[in-house]
Amino acid sequence: MSRLAPVVIDNGTGFTKMGFAGNNDPSFIQPTVIATRDGGSSSSGAPSVPSKPSFLNSSASSNLASKRGVEDLDFFIGDEAVANSKTYALNYPIRHGQIENWDHMERYWEQSIFKYLRCEPEDHSFLLTEPPLNPPENRENTAEIMFESFNVQGLYIAVQAVLALAASWTSSKVSEQTLTGTVIDSGDGVTHVIPVAEGYVIGSSIKSVPIAGRDLTSFVQNLLRERGENMIPAEDSLTVAQRIKEQYSYVCPDIVKEFKKYDQEGDKYFKKYEGVHSVTGKPYTVDVGFERFLAPEIFFNPEIASSDYLTPLPEVVDTVVQTSPIDVRRGLYKNIVLSGGSTMFENFAKRLQRDIKRIADTRIKRSEALSGGRMQSTPMEVNVISHKKQRYAVWFGGSLLASTGEFHSYCHTKAEYDEVGPSIARHNRVFGTLG
Ligand SMILES: Nc1ncnc2c1ncn2[C@@H]1O[C@H](COP(=O)(O)OP(=O)(O)OP(=O)(O)O)[C@@H](O)[C@H]1O
Ligand SMILES: [Mg+2]
Repeated sequence: MSRLAPVVIDNGTGFTKMGFAGNNDPSFIQPTVIATRDGGSSSSGAPSVPSKPSFLNSSASSNLASKRGVEDLDFFIGDEAVANSKTYALNYPIRHGQIENWDHMERYWEQSIFKYLRCEPEDHSFLLTEPPLNPPENRENTAEIMFESFNVQGLYIAVQAVLALAASWTSSKVSEQTLTGTVIDSGDGVTHVIPVAEGYVIGSSIKSVPIAGRDLTSFVQNLLRERGENMIPAEDSLTVAQRIKEQYSYVCPDIVKEFKKYDQEGDKYFKKYEGVHSVTGKPYTVDVGFERFLAPEIFFNPEIASSDYLTPLPEVVDTVVQTSPIDVRRGLYKNIVLSGGSTMFENFAKRLQRDIKRIADTRIKRSEALSGGRMQSTPMEVNVISHKKQRYAVWFGGSLLASTGEFHSYCHTKAEYDEVGPSIARHNRVFGTLG
């Protein structure tokens, strides 16, 4: 039997990346949002028990759409959902990286498969992704939907951080294909720092940081508002803030010096954003200034944006490594890998590397001093890896792993599922280093 390319789907809090293994880029990137008529019906927001819909029938998946009632199909996902937000209710099935509404998630997958990817799930294996510390029940729920509703040929649920490590192999800075390293995954809803040793996540040392893309966008939005950029129509203000953040923001080495540069050579640093009113079609201009470097500075000086969370990201990374087993610490400092949209700022890797190195060096100096000069430690090698596939690193890592010959032996098959049931998905088989 010839095998078709596995399907790779990374469902994020903000965006879903979907496509086929072996490709360089996802075929579709859509907001993880579903628009329904009923305003969320059974379970908006609250976690719900997965319910098997009535159309369930293991051989019916190819005609799934036609077996559902017409009103069942009255929903949209992604950009189409957003476009219909005036007449439909928008629901976000994933919160902080975890699936919270299974009914909406199932329908989201249904359109992803049949309307976007346009494939027959029984002919493909699927690689899906999960956040760190995902409860095993969530994996079971996913397996139940994938095998019973969609009748997929095989399923592998991969840990996002491990995929991000695999994606970094494309960087010229990476000398060996290792699955040991520290992943900084920062997307829309949450930032995680995850230590991984030989493909195994060191769960007890993971830390999450409550600062991610959404927070940076609303910070920019506030700065614009406070400065009186009142040309921006209220309904466009979030989108404009997001675009300004994505197009113009960068990380600077020192904010005091950066403010000075803007004072002295304003022409070089201030920018203009050209927008078009989404309703009237009238063009307008917005001045772009300090938010260019202040927005990502929140990662390094969180007190700029709020007084609730104060630990700089480099310190969090250092703590994660220091709380991991001593024999893997060098490997974790040596291979710090970036993943996700909110790590895309220019010079983000450079600043992180400098700040983490400073913390590590200070610690070494302190312990040398404490030993009265009797102990000499070798300096710590700190590398923060930036690479071309960073924006969709998790998806791309999935595309790489699922296109290897071994992938099918890591998958749970439909036959195995039928024999054992959902509990089959409790444990992942961990990828070894690939030949
Ligand atoms: N070039 C860029 N510079 C800065 N931020 C960007 C850039 N491109 C995208 N982003 C931001 O990245 C975020 C989306 O990232 P990503 O797709 O990795 O998140 P996600 O996987 O949906 O969320 P999560 O990983 O939190 O579940 C958005 O906030 C977006 O504004
Ligand atoms: Mg993500």
